This record gives sequence, C-alpha cells and structure tokens, in this order.
Amino acid sequence: MINNEQRKTIEEAACTAREQAYAPYSKFKVGAAVIGGSGTVYAGINVENASFGLTACAERVAIFKAVSAGERDILAVAVCTESGVTPCGSCRQVIREFAADCPVYILDTNGSSRETSLAALLPQSFGKGDLEIAE
Ligand code: THU
Repeated sequence: MINNEQRKTIEEAACTAREQAYAPYSKFKVGAAVIGGSGTVYAGINVENASFGLTACAERVAIFKAVSAGERDILAVAVCTESGVTPCGSCRQVIREFAADCPVYILDTNGSSRETSLAALLPQSFGKGDLEIAE
C-alpha cells in the first residue's frame, strides 16, 4: 500500500518525465513512474526509433530502471499522457511480473487523475505463480 503523499509523488514524476518523451514519429508523449518496494521512485518515458518496432514504452522504461536498481516489487504505477490512456497490454504483463496487483494512476495533461488497478487492467493474469515460483 502507498499513501496519498506517495501517490502525488509518482503522479508528478510521471507528468514531469513526460516532458522528456522522445516521440518524434507518433508525437504521442508518455511519462510513467513507479514506486519500488524500497519506496524509491523511478520515472520513464517512451523512447521511439526510426526503426519503429524498437520503440520502448514509458512504463517499461520506468520498471526496467527500478529492477536494474535492485527492486523486485512494484507498489504502484502512474502514467501520464495528453488524453489519459491506460497502459498497453505488453506493459500490463511487465507490471504483473513485479506486482500481482497494484494501483495504476491514470493522468492527463489537464491535471485529472483516476485510479484503476493492475487486476482490473489484466484480469485472470498469468504470472510467476503459474510456474510455481513464489509470488
Ligand atoms: N506508448 C507508451 O509509452 N506506453 C503505452 O502504454 C502505450 C504506448 C508509446 C509507444 C509509442 O512511442 C507511442 O506511445 C505511440 O504508440
């Protein structure tokens, strides 16, 4: 569980990071932030490529930064886009690797925020428990 202050912190981190998004092709800027089990916040942006298929989503950049720093649990995720969209399917599954469920905060650039959850976005999910690895 995270508190309201932590929620505000990752929401602001996601929207601040979004300003650095590298999206010259789609022009669709995404910022994301996660809070790891240690309490540290990690932000990410989408990073596009002239070879389009190499594009990395903001959520995965944030999560991979967290895991690279030693985190193995994700407590919450925030995603900021102009229109307030939810994470793509691939990002949902990557979040699932490090959180069986967690809050997902969906922000837009008008400043609105709504809360959903990984379990709502990825019901009946496949995870490490299905491979008999401890969750
Ligand atoms: N994108 C993300 O960063 N996260 C998502 O969950 C959906 C899509 C990026 C990828 C690409 O740079 C742009 O948004 C348009 O698809």
